[in-house]
Amino acid sequence: MVDTSITSRVWLVTGCSSGLGLLLAKAALARGDRVVVTARKLESPDNTLIQSDNCRALALDVAASQADLDEKASEAISHFGRIDVLVNNAGYVQSGVWEQVGHEDVCHQLETNVLGPLRLTRSVLPFMRQQGSGKVIFISSVAGWAGVAAGGPYSASKFALEGAAECLQLEISQFNIETHLIVMGMFRTGVLSADRRKLDSANVSSEYASIINAYSDRLKNADGKQPGDPHLAAECIADLARREGHFKHRSDIPFRIFLGSDCFKTVQAKCRAMLKSLDDFKDLSCSTDFSTDTKEAEL
Ligand SMILES: NC(=O)c1ccc[n+]([C@@H]2O[C@H](COP(=O)([O-])OP(=O)(O)OC[C@H]3O[C@@H](n4cnc5c(N)ncnc54)[C@H](OP(=O)(O)O)[C@@H]3O)[C@@H](O)[C@H]2O)c1
Repeated sequence: MVDTSITSRVWLVTGCSSGLGLLLAKAALARGDRVVVTARKLESPDNTLIQSDNCRALALDVAASQADLDEKASEAISHFGRIDVLVNNAGYVQSGVWEQVGHEDVCHQLETNVLGPLRLTRSVLPFMRQQGSGKVIFISSVAGWAGVAAGGPYSASKFALEGAAECLQLEISQFNIETHLIVMGMFRTGVLSADRRKLDSANVSSEYASIINAYSDRLKNADGKQPGDPHLAAECIADLARREGHFKHRSDIPFRIFLGSDCFKTVQAKCRAMLKSLDDFKDLSCSTDFSTDTKEAEL
């Protein structure tokens, strides 16, 4: 039997074949919610999930067209009758130095990590507006706050996602639809495993070899040793969606939630450095306005 109690929420989660998406689907189901789990290949999501009446599996590639995603969103909504929480989780890491990374590789990174989530959100929003509530959650990264050499394509995708979500939030809060960005540090999923991370080191010229080698070593060394526990991240996102745990009875829940001590330190250092630079160059920044006289003369 499908659980239809009013405390039960309906989720649509992308990228559930592994990692955070799968753990999030499990966390939501364990709390009595209903979940439309989506993955590029239907056979991927954990079989034990699909067997639950509270779970529906749907094949969904976030890089698909708007028309295809509109169809998927309708299909998802028709199963449980609503969607309360959309989690734009699917993504991957494309790396490379800008001078030499393939244009198609960059386009596919942006399609998957930015444009796909925005298209799917566009598909779901009319339903959320109609039901008068909803939560749209985007999974961002510390890479969307701080760049590293050879990390350009992935960072570009997450920086873009941050800007898009920030604007979206201001547009849809009037409909009682919340938007959140989960800014994640390094979490121990398969995201950095050799078969998932994309880095074409074979075609890199000697001028960039040291950067690529250092970057590649960093990723290899981090794989399997990331400080963040993805189970805890999933529980935290479930708390956010259900106003439980840390978020219970809070009226000051921020738009951005930073997860991971590494993320906290990096973002804090970046904000401090940026504030210092703003202060140090305040005179310059404020020296390029029209003088009051000129402004008045123009009016
Ligand atoms: N783990 C971290 O340290 C970390 C840090 C910051 C941000 N994040 C973000 O967290 C999210 C989840 O990553 P994860 O760590 O759980 O890694 P993961 O285990 O590699 O999961 C990524 C998921 O995205 C799916 N995916 C990729 N391209 C897709 C597409 N075009 N359409 C639908 N699904 C697609 C993958 O499915 P397939 O099996 O079909 O490839 C997989 O299920 C990503 O957005 C990632 O950028 C992760």
